[in-house]
Amino acid sequence: MRIRPTLVLLALVGLVFGDDLSRSLLQRKLVTEDPKGLRVVSRQVGAPSSNTFNQITNHFPNDPFYGPPPANETFLQNYIVNDTFYKAGGPIFLLDSGETSARGRSRFLLTGIVAELAQATNGMGIILEHRYYGTSFPEPGLVSGEGLSTDNLRWLTTDQSIADIAYFAQHVSIPSHEDEDLTAPGRPWIIYGGSLAGAEVAFTMREYGDVIYGGISSSGTVQAFKGYPQWYYTIQENAPQDCVRSIEDIVDKMDLLINTKNTPALTELKSIFGLKALQDIRDFALTIAFPIGNPMFYPTSTWQELNWDPNAGSDDFFVFCDAVTSTNSTFSAVDSQLSNYTGGAIWKNLGNYANYIKTNVVPLCPPGADLDSNECFGTHNATAFANPFDFSGNRAYLYQSCLESGQWSQGAPLGRRSLLSRSIQTDYTQRWCEWSFPDGQFNTIPASPILERWNKFGALKLQADRLAQVDGGIDPWQYACVHSPDGFKRPNTLLRPYYEIKKGGHHWDENGLLNITAEPDFIQSIHKYEIKFVKSWLADFPKWRAGLSS
Ligand SMILES: *[C@@H]1O[C@H](CO)[C@@H](O)[C@H](O)[C@H]1NC(C)=O
Ligand SMILES: *[C@@H]1O[C@H](CO)[C@@H](O)[C@H](O)[C@H]1NC(C)=O
Ligand SMILES: *[C@@H]1O[C@H](CO)[C@@H](O)[C@H](O)[C@H]1NC(C)=O
Ligand SMILES: *[C@@H]1O[C@H](CO)[C@@H](O)[C@H](O)[C@H]1NC(C)=O
Ligand SMILES: *[C@@H]1O[C@H](CO)[C@@H](O)[C@H](O)[C@H]1NC(C)=O
Ligand SMILES: *[C@@H]1O[C@H](CO)[C@@H](O)[C@H](O)[C@H]1NC(C)=O
Repeated sequence: MRIRPTLVLLALVGLVFGDDLSRSLLQRKLVTEDPKGLRVVSRQVGAPSSNTFNQITNHFPNDPFYGPPPANETFLQNYIVNDTFYKAGGPIFLLDSGETSARGRSRFLLTGIVAELAQATNGMGIILEHRYYGTSFPEPGLVSGEGLSTDNLRWLTTDQSIADIAYFAQHVSIPSHEDEDLTAPGRPWIIYGGSLAGAEVAFTMREYGDVIYGGISSSGTVQAFKGYPQWYYTIQENAPQDCVRSIEDIVDKMDLLINTKNTPALTELKSIFGLKALQDIRDFALTIAFPIGNPMFYPTSTWQELNWDPNAGSDDFFVFCDAVTSTNSTFSAVDSQLSNYTGGAIWKNLGNYANYIKTNVVPLCPPGADLDSNECFGTHNATAFANPFDFSGNRAYLYQSCLESGQWSQGAPLGRRSLLSRSIQTDYTQRWCEWSFPDGQFNTIPASPILERWNKFGALKLQADRLAQVDGGIDPWQYACVHSPDGFKRPNTLLRPYYEIKKGGHHWDENGLLNITAEPDFIQSIHKYEIKFVKSWLADFPKWRAGLSS
């Protein structure tokens, strides 16, 4: 997640790459062997036409949680439609934009599972922009006024967001289709979302299963946590092991120096990475772990941005690991520079690691800026966090995390090996909530996220009829999804599909290629299965519809 506007990017869904993620380990090998073979140039898309819907600002006027009524009862919520494949009477596929703008996901009306489903069933594709992202802001006056103040953010809750989906489906009138009643539950509405939007799809099926007919929750992060050390587990298991071991060993040595408060040694360590200016050792620890990533924010592509789709994501993680384990001896003298502080032990690959950070991360700090400022790698300027005029989505996502999902909060694994210094725990990240959202008149941020507001829908146990749950086996968010190793295994049925893409990352089924047969087999397989179970649901729609009215 981006906090610092110039530098840092979002984790949950790599915004910068349009959306996300990556190429599996296997796929990477194929690409290296024949880069042209897999690349399919995406068709040029004209600016998709954007429509607005009068959405209710507060769906829960009697809930004291929300304070006084909104200045305006409704706000304009954006949505994008593609009816290319639509035939009268067909189903509606709604993609929740989640923590991005609708435009940021517009290519998913052209390729990927939503487009493929629309094509297979004569359906219509719609992307609904999430409230507080893109240009869909409740309290329209806020852009010119006090911005995303704590008070103005008070309508941003999961409860309101999923109520938006149900209300939209029940009331929208689609331009050029005004003569048809396309609303739910008269028509089958099937919703899709990945990551946070995937969680919302699952929550919507629990809450509004009498309105929305079906949903595909892809890598739905249905489990809220405070602190999410598990983020690193899939990387430790699946990334190149020599790279993982080198970094873990370096982290162990660094933590020893931190625990023994060896200031001269730590100063030398920071200097080796070109980051001597950082005062808080945790800012240093976070910065040198940027190429690996974390649940919240980082400026470069990480494990999460690997994607099978050549039009998305980035292989930077592998470039980083190759650099760390390089056998080129140019930087190897550095490996013994701190040995005197660690009983003579060599810090294997320290020189390579430090050189990568110096070359690829440190220069992201704008020329002339202070390395220790919030503009660069410092995270201790409360005023900079409090800026309410960040409409990029970062501030909204941080707010959601601080209020209820906890998904920003970092904590290095304790009692096991770690890729991130154990000095980083949730007290480090919780300060960002306090600084970013000072108490308002009507709204205050809790001292700790109210996880129950998120987990009340069932968390890892959540399931429902016509709710498909698709996850990825190498996704760092796996432990927040229903295929978590700590989760509850359940049968995979057409009514309740439960499917893990073994080699898949974070909602890899969302992406697709125009030439479907060029998609890797494991992506074609999940897409075919999704089309199969959706068709089976649609066949039962008249029965469901009749049951509702009886
Ligand atoms: C709608 O989807 C079709 C099929 O993918 C594509 O050819 C067309 O350009 C899309 N229209 C818009 C406005 O995006
Ligand atoms: C209410 O909505 C109107 C029209 O959209 C807008 O001009 C006005 O600024 C809004 N008021 C506030 C307080 O946001
Ligand atoms: C080793 O790395 C240095 C510095 O990056 C480079 O100039 C040199 O060509 C490399 N040597 C080999 C054998 O790759
Ligand atoms: C380590 O300590 C020894 C003995 O004090 C000294 O000779 C050597 O220069 C030191 N090495 C480094 C890299 O500081
Ligand atoms: C803190 O951030 C504010 C706002 O970005 C900036 O004006 C101020 O100079 C910063 N203070 C320090 C000490 O860097
Ligand atoms: C689609 O991809 C398949 C498999 O890679 C390839 O054989 C075929 O030529 C491609 N078709 C087009 C129209 O590019």
